[in-house]
Amino acid sequence: MRPASRIEQLPAYLFADLDRKRRAAEQRGLDVISLSIGDPDLPTPEPIVEAARAALADPSLHRYPDYAGSARFRQACADWLEMRFGQRFDPQREILGLIGSKEGIAHLPLAVCNPGDVLLCPEPGYPVYAAAAQLAGAEVHALALRAERGFLPDLDAVPAGICGRARALWINYPHNPTGAVAGLDFYARAVDFCARHELVLCADAAYSEIGFEGYRASSVFEVPGAREVAVEFHSMSKTFNMTGWRIAFVAGRPDVIAPLGALKSNLDSGPFGVVQAAAVAALELGPGPRDAVCEVYQRRRDRLVEGLRAAGLAPSCPRATFYVWVPVPGGDDVGFAARLVEQLGVLVAPGSGFGPSGAGYVRFSLTVADSRLDEAVERLEKLAL
Ligand SMILES: Cc1ncc(COP(=O)(O)O)c(C=O)c1O
Repeated sequence: MRPASRIEQLPAYLFADLDRKRRAAEQRGLDVISLSIGDPDLPTPEPIVEAARAALADPSLHRYPDYAGSARFRQACADWLEMRFGQRFDPQREILGLIGSKEGIAHLPLAVCNPGDVLLCPEPGYPVYAAAAQLAGAEVHALALRAERGFLPDLDAVPAGICGRARALWINYPHNPTGAVAGLDFYARAVDFCARHELVLCADAAYSEIGFEGYRASSVFEVPGAREVAVEFHSMSKTFNMTGWRIAFVAGRPDVIAPLGALKSNLDSGPFGVVQAAAVAALELGPGPRDAVCEVYQRRRDRLVEGLRAAGLAPSCPRATFYVWVPVPGGDDVGFAARLVEQLGVLVAPGSGFGPSGAGYVRFSLTVADSRLDEAVERLEKLAL
């Protein structure tokens, strides 16, 4: 059977070829160190695991959960947003629980776009924005992010005809894959742009808590007027080493939260109640565990950046996220990534996998144990450029 054309039209799995090269390298006996995927190696903090253990014994949580997330979970999300950004949200109308932020990001276009509507998506960027738009029959207008603009989109350059057909703008700071950050001045421009063109501003804040040397990301809601235009996606995945648990939430515009919730109630039944209980414990932990995690990534970032410089490369030194974005000598990112895995057994993500403007870069992830990162750096230092 041929799959549906919407599936056939999805972009090919970008890392498939690299995966093949990785397997070939392993078959030749190379011990491959993967710095390609952003999946924390550190364990979920024990108080969160303990809360899940206790919740597992509660039979009421073995039943279908509340579709939108339990009142307790949504209240904890609202309390966390207030503690972290000084912004108060109504947990009933302005917060929706998600089965990981990827799930909400992937469903958003189905909730707010009609076929033929345009979605403005950054590239390089998290590939799900564009894939989900395509699945909803929407058209993607890519916003190229370039080093000379600090990897911020040039909103003034979006053609008027596109603005007229656009329904939503995606932004993502701290940014995957470049590690770039945005200030409130940029958020103010994005809010103004979305208000003028009647767009939903979709802010993906998956990395808001991963920052170095005291850097802490802002929320788009710290900008006046954001309440009228924005929704912001937050995830437990990166902050609390909970990628496998699948728990996140979206906050903001009730006229976006409601249709997204209506869509989801037809597709899923909300996050597992035990996982919601664990997320409540996570959100109530205070900044200690987050700060400890940031310390680990900062140490690894410094080690990797130093090693890459010693190898003759010119990496960015990110203030946030656990990614290091590195321009490739000669500009062939796919060839460079293939060489790293074939010759050194170090797997990285070629930048063109995140969009055409990512060509010429590779992304290193800091989510491996220190000893493995040290080993990778030692190998990279032998790199003959
Ligand atoms: C920018 C960005 N947004 C969202 C996600 C999804 O995270 P999760 O579904 O685990 O919340 C990721 C995961 O890598 C990401 O990089």
